[in-house]
Amino acid sequence: MGEVILVTGANGEVGHGLIPALAKLKKYDLVALDIRELDDTLKPHVHETVVADILDKTVIENLLKEHQIKIIFHLAALLSSVAENDPERAHDVNVNGTANLLSVAYRVGTEEKRTIKFTFPSTIAVYGIPDAKTKKGSRALKEEEYNTPITMYGINKLYCELLGKYYSSHYSQLTTHNVSPIDFRCVRFPGIISALTIPSGGTSDYAPEMIHSAAKGEGYESFVRPDTVIPFMVMPDAVKSLLQLVEVPPEKLTQNVYNVSGFSATALEIAELVNKVYPDSAISYVPNPKRQKIVDSWPASIDDSAAKRDWGWKPDYNIERAFTEYLIPEIQNKYK
Ligand code: SER
Repeated sequence: MGEVILVTGANGEVGHGLIPALAKLKKYDLVALDIRELDDTLKPHVHETVVADILDKTVIENLLKEHQIKIIFHLAALLSSVAENDPERAHDVNVNGTANLLSVAYRVGTEEKRTIKFTFPSTIAVYGIPDAKTKKGSRALKEEEYNTPITMYGINKLYCELLGKYYSSHYSQLTTHNVSPIDFRCVRFPGIISALTIPSGGTSDYAPEMIHSAAKGEGYESFVRPDTVIPFMVMPDAVKSLLQLVEVPPEKLTQNVYNVSGFSATALEIAELVNKVYPDSAISYVPNPKRQKIVDSWPASIDDSAAKRDWGWKPDYNIERAFTEYLIPEIQNKYK
């Protein structure tokens, strides 16, 4: 048996990309946790599936102990639009779920004298740019700039970044002298576009929705303006960044939280690439001012030079390659 990895939120969008990729490495055994039954396509890749709430501390403690979990990918979260529709539930899942998992992992790691790698996806939603002029005038943002999110999701993720850092470096600092058992590693993702799944409840979803709708022979009404710009990456690069980060020797890491990015694009640029392949897909723009405001508070691009410097991060896909070599062929395959 290889090292055992726990993937929470396994049935979500990133889980659908990450689980087959981890299985392909053939050196890990995977335990999947999700509130819903795992998709049949993912089941062959995992050793065990547990259907449970991320807030259930007993289930988590038992799993960490029984399987001697060495690595956690904590993917369970409610995305930004869903979170705005039920902020309290989002806080429960996104913050309390993460806090419980960190605290149980800290305790189990301490008791069993072993390190647990805690890998966490964060987001461009942790940024909160005050206005359009500032967004337009900004260069690519570094990790620590404009950490003033306006969404529940962004606030939750930013706090959990800090909490992870706390558990790995400062936990109970007045009384505890132990070296922490938690090795907290976090990537801040831009909007992710997958060919396999359509995200549910994100605010960057206009991009994947546009592409999937066209492939299904449908038109699309974008809920943001054509000039709306944020950074994106395709799922294979998101997965690549997680796999790379989890394997970097600790001495190479100079921070806990790293931006990663693929390419920045406007909604119009994405629509034009979609229309090149699907000229009949009618893409129109009917901005929803509330969702627009959220996307406008996110940066046009993020600076991922720290990840490049510390662990050799490099995306495989620019926007052209993303379309020609990944999105279009995979999506055509999916809907054929
Ligand atoms: N894709 C996320 C969302 O839209 C942002 O990281 O909520």
